Amino acid sequence: MHMPTMSSIVKEETIQENNEIDCKNVMVNNTNNNNEILPSNINNTNDESNNNTNNTKKKKKYKGKPKWYNKRQGKGRCSKAQKLAYKEIFPEISIQKKYGEVIDFEDEFHNPNNNHTCILDIGFGMGDSLINIGKLNKDKNILGCEIHRPGLANACLKVREFNLTNVKLYGGDAYKLLTRHIAEEAKVFAQICIFFPDPWKQDVDRRIVRDETIEIINKHMIAGGDLYIATDIADYVTYIEATMEKFIANNTFKGGRCERVDFRPITKYEQIAMDEGREVVDFHYVKLI
Ligand SMILES: C[S@@+](CC[C@H](N)C(=O)[O-])C[C@H]1O[C@@H](n2cnc3c(N)ncnc32)[C@H](O)[C@@H]1O
Repeated sequence: MHMPTMSSIVKEETIQENNEIDCKNVMVNNTNNNNEILPSNINNTNDESNNNTNNTKKKKKYKGKPKWYNKRQGKGRCSKAQKLAYKEIFPEISIQKKYGEVIDFEDEFHNPNNNHTCILDIGFGMGDSLINIGKLNKDKNILGCEIHRPGLANACLKVREFNLTNVKLYGGDAYKLLTRHIAEEAKVFAQICIFFPDPWKQDVDRRIVRDETIEIINKHMIAGGDLYIATDIADYVTYIEATMEKFIANNTFKGGRCERVDFRPITKYEQIAMDEGREVVDFHYVKLI
């Protein structure tokens, strides 16, 4: 087994800075008991890692940080086909921005037939829901956000297989996407999906559905926009309800639990939940103003 040494860490970060993939060099370290990855030695497929050439400084900078950084992108290995897809397709269909650079949705999607609003799938995993949404909404702009590199590569393959010119990928942290790359006053999201977000049982502050994220979603979602969430983690169900209750109370969202959303294919997470007899709960919230 490949044991991480200082030189291999530096090698990995150099690879990331060049934005090239070599999954066999990517290490998973610092996992906790839930196999969730703790925030150290972080890097990102997108943006600001490109700006910093001093690896030592970078590691110091990220030390002890923060809620949204994790190293999930390195977990798992890419197949040969995925490696090739990441190398050749990802640059063509991804939106890559430097720190603070905002996305011009009209320009990125080149679709004169729509209003340039977007459906965002946060943490799309291997891409099943993203691709299904893409197929069902050919006239709409679809953006998939994921940090897991084999997942990004897999989505690349499927986007090509189904010739989904309406689907783009952002390879990085959803929180960064929302806080750094969406124009301050822009209302761009007509729909946001967060299916089976990581539960972070030991550190709920890292959860993707939390006050800060919903604040930002609220800021960038059009009135009437749909927020769909699904989880099989009982504790996350109550956490989501408690979080959304505040936004319902101040009249920014309405909604709650709903029937299973039909455009969401059964992924391995739902299958495991069903096999283990855990209830899967879907939520649908509508942005009011
Ligand atoms: C449990 S999986 C669910 C995947 C998929 N939505 C499904 O239903 O099969 C959670 C996914 O969210 C991704 N993820 C976790 N934190 C993220 C973040 N901050 N930004 C983007 N993706 C994230 C993980 O890499 C992982 O693929």
